[in-house]
Amino acid sequence: MKNLCVLILAAGKGTRMKSATPKVLHNILDRPVIDYVVSCVIDAGVSPEDVAVLVGAGGELVEEHLREKFPTELNILWQREQLGTGHAVKSAREWWSGYENLIVLNGDVPLIAPESLKSFIASFSNDCTVISFMADDPKQYGRIIRGSDSVSIVEFKDASEDQRKIREVNAGCYAFKVSSLEKVIDLIKNDNAQHEYYLPDALSLMNEQGLRTGAFIFSEEEMQGINNHAELAGATKVIRERIIAKWLDEGVRMIDPDSVYISPDARLSRGVVIMPNVQLWGETEIGEDAYIGSGSILTNAKIGRNVQIIAYAVIENSELKDSSKAGPFCYIREGSCLEQRAFAGKFVELKKSRIGENSKVPHLSYMGDATLGHDVNIGAGSITCNYDGVHKNKTFIGNNCFIGSDTMFVAPVELADGAATAAGSVITQAVPENSLGVGRARQTNIKDWSKKRLKQSKGEN
Ligand code: UD1
Ligand code: MG
Repeated sequence: MKNLCVLILAAGKGTRMKSATPKVLHNILDRPVIDYVVSCVIDAGVSPEDVAVLVGAGGELVEEHLREKFPTELNILWQREQLGTGHAVKSAREWWSGYENLIVLNGDVPLIAPESLKSFIASFSNDCTVISFMADDPKQYGRIIRGSDSVSIVEFKDASEDQRKIREVNAGCYAFKVSSLEKVIDLIKNDNAQHEYYLPDALSLMNEQGLRTGAFIFSEEEMQGINNHAELAGATKVIRERIIAKWLDEGVRMIDPDSVYISPDARLSRGVVIMPNVQLWGETEIGEDAYIGSGSILTNAKIGRNVQIIAYAVIENSELKDSSKAGPFCYIREGSCLEQRAFAGKFVELKKSRIGENSKVPHLSYMGDATLGHDVNIGAGSITCNYDGVHKNKTFIGNNCFIGSDTMFVAPVELADGAATAAGSVITQAVPENSLGVGRARQTNIKDWSKKRLKQSKGEN
């Protein structure tokens, strides 16, 4: 028989969120509530094959999400009807009955730290131990009733006035000896205010049978449940501050940490400087000594060493290699890359484009589906006309090309190494090596035109 398994309860409707999205899929920063709970259990050293998430309400969505994010060994079990937490645990009986010990964790308790869970597991010796905390405001949590050497729980809705005054509450995390749980699980009834099968009733039933129950007190900060949007916002604040503290400790500089948002999946290096109002989402990685200017929003961006993002850059699923530079006010979209020392400047949009080493797109340009070689200079206002209404077409610009301002590249089109374009050109054909492409009407000057216009406006002829 295996020693220990963890069952995470995530089948509830989450009525108090007033949302069609299942409660555990609501985001804290950019990861759903359930991810924090599952990650905590795995980080506490429990192998995913010994962990199960119980899904039910909106379960298809929760299952799909978990399958994508976590190892395939993670078990996903179903509670088809949501009749309460006691019923939830019973629904998974076939799975946990193969173990000696069972930890049950509510799926809406995302702030618990792996170290705390580890110490809880290590200290477990009763037939059931529940995690409790002393709440400043005990809200609707189940109240802990301490006997001389036992513990039971009364739900808020069933509690008397006096019991409601108790500040020690049930955190929704339990350790059971499976053989002891087996003795009471079928005895849990639903004769209570909510007509639900309450898991906390397992404790009083154990007490009646002379089994040992106890409570392990944790800090309030770690054990808050998420039942509504106010609690979700509160948990987001706590997790945001933990992440910020971790990166400050790792040698990242932020002059206004309170204005910075960093995903739990982002990775930063020492020497990085983060200016105010920066958001780093997804699996963004920032290399040593990079500077991320104010107002920049990066999602799944890979930023190399010494990169300078001046300010107000939006970068998605793209890479900026060492010593490249971007901004202010640029939008670097999916699949783009600034090679080393390349630059995308003011009011520049890139999409699926590679800007070669030392190449510059300094102002007011759109490069879509374009590949630029090294040492290219793109004049202000140049644009790849990459979309013909049906297909996206590619533009290739060779090494050392010099592009005059306001060039339109009507893709597909190719410029060989050393080519140049005249300002204002519409380039529809390939430009050979070292040649100048001129694609504009010749200028004609009309003599004395301005004088004539002036006369006309005064009514003279
Ligand atoms: C529960 C506890 C309460 C405790 C609080 C801590 C019960 C009866 N009450 O109350 O004592 O103080 O957590 O946060 O357990 N779920 C299922 N299937 C169901 C019902 C719920 O899987 O049929 C899951 C939910 O998805 C959730 C967890 O169990 O993750 C707890 O359910 P919730 O409705 O949030 O219980 P609370 O009212 O918070
Ligand atoms: Mg809850």
